[in-house]
Amino acid sequence: MVKFDYSESTITKSEVDAIRSQVLEAKRLVENGGGAGDDFLGWVKLPENYDKEEFVRIKEAAKNIQGNSDVLVVIGIGGSYLGARAAIEMINSSFFNALPKEKRGCPSVVFAGNNISANYMNELLEYLSDKDFSVNVISKSGTTTEPAIAFRLLSALLEKKYGTCDGRVFITTDKSRGAMKKYADEKGFPTFVVPDDIGGRYSVLTAVGLLPIAVAGIDIDAMMKGACDAMKEYSSDENACIEYAAVRNILYRKGKTVEILANYEPRLHYIGEWWKQLYGESEGKNGMGIFPAAVDFSTDLHSLGQYIQQGRRVMFETVLTVKEPDKDVTIINSEENTDGLNFLSGKTMNYVNSRAFLGTLLAHTDGQVPNLVLEIEKMDAYNFGFLAYFFEKACGISGYTLGVNPFDQPGVEAYKKNMFALLNKPGYEEAGAALYARLKNNLK
Ligand code: PA5
Repeated sequence: MVKFDYSESTITKSEVDAIRSQVLEAKRLVENGGGAGDDFLGWVKLPENYDKEEFVRIKEAAKNIQGNSDVLVVIGIGGSYLGARAAIEMINSSFFNALPKEKRGCPSVVFAGNNISANYMNELLEYLSDKDFSVNVISKSGTTTEPAIAFRLLSALLEKKYGTCDGRVFITTDKSRGAMKKYADEKGFPTFVVPDDIGGRYSVLTAVGLLPIAVAGIDIDAMMKGACDAMKEYSSDENACIEYAAVRNILYRKGKTVEILANYEPRLHYIGEWWKQLYGESEGKNGMGIFPAAVDFSTDLHSLGQYIQQGRRVMFETVLTVKEPDKDVTIINSEENTDGLNFLSGKTMNYVNSRAFLGTLLAHTDGQVPNLVLEIEKMDAYNFGFLAYFFEKACGISGYTLGVNPFDQPGVEAYKKNMFALLNKPGYEEAGAALYARLKNNLK
């Protein structure tokens, strides 16, 4: 269940009603097709239509990895890793990877192929050198530079350690095409499918997200149940998903071009990262779109809080709150009371956190930053599935309401072309010469 409250947003119900027909038309396009990019709507019915046979294979593979590995390395970038990371970090302990394996009950999960940092790779290779590990490579195309480099290096380490990659490499890619599928078939590695009709940023509830999430000991049945309940709830014509899409479009039309997703739980940090890709890649095109930013409170109240309160008035805030902590902590009394905080003795940390949230919400609203609130019940598998579906559907509806294709990402290619040209990739010689001439002697 996701509760949506826009009472502190300055937007009224009559304003929402005024654009309701546009938003409902956008919802119809998401559900039935007919809009731009409608060959990428596989995620809409996924919570019901997912491949049950593959789901069983995912659980079996997860069990095998849990049995023979201390670490699972998930190789992927963008939509091929953010969802899994968001789920694992939201649901498991903040110290999950640092716990001894006996306490964790499953391998730690680390990520690679989402950067091209030599430092990161060296540190990872060093970290893995005395550990048993497996690798889940996730790439629809199979040729994305960052994960491909990481896989070269990590499969070489597997070969060195075990003399073979067999039993330790799991590949999630296109069902029949692409370099990765061909390679997996040649080597006989188990494969899982990135469905043709689901783009990376909408893929967390496919094998892309589910295999690493299952390895991390998370109940993927509960996750799919949460998504399925959300799918049913958001098929009505009046619901939180429609309202969120409507309110953010109204705010955008009034000049609020930046949306900040705020949380008060460190475990929600990667929900913010995943959400930034979902909304940024879906809406930021044709010179339009809300810029999605994310903050972790109360941490960032001591850094970006100043800007939010008094900087340029171009933003609104969406606060993602959690109704119940897994376990609360009571603040103890101090005889010395040097910090003067004995008025909090006996109160819980969650109570203080909730007052920080309410106080900030009112302060930021007073500072002309409209606040929207999304509340989930708990940070568990069911609520992750529900929330992921909520954000995906609201994103599709919001994108169509804005007037863009929410399912393509043509702008992502520009940096790749330049990078290949500067790396002298065959076929890019002319472009490379032109770019090096532009750089002259300064940045070469
Ligand atoms: O959302 C997307 O489509 C992208 O973020 C891709 O997932 C990302 O670029 C990785 O692509 P691939 O899975 O082909 O390696």
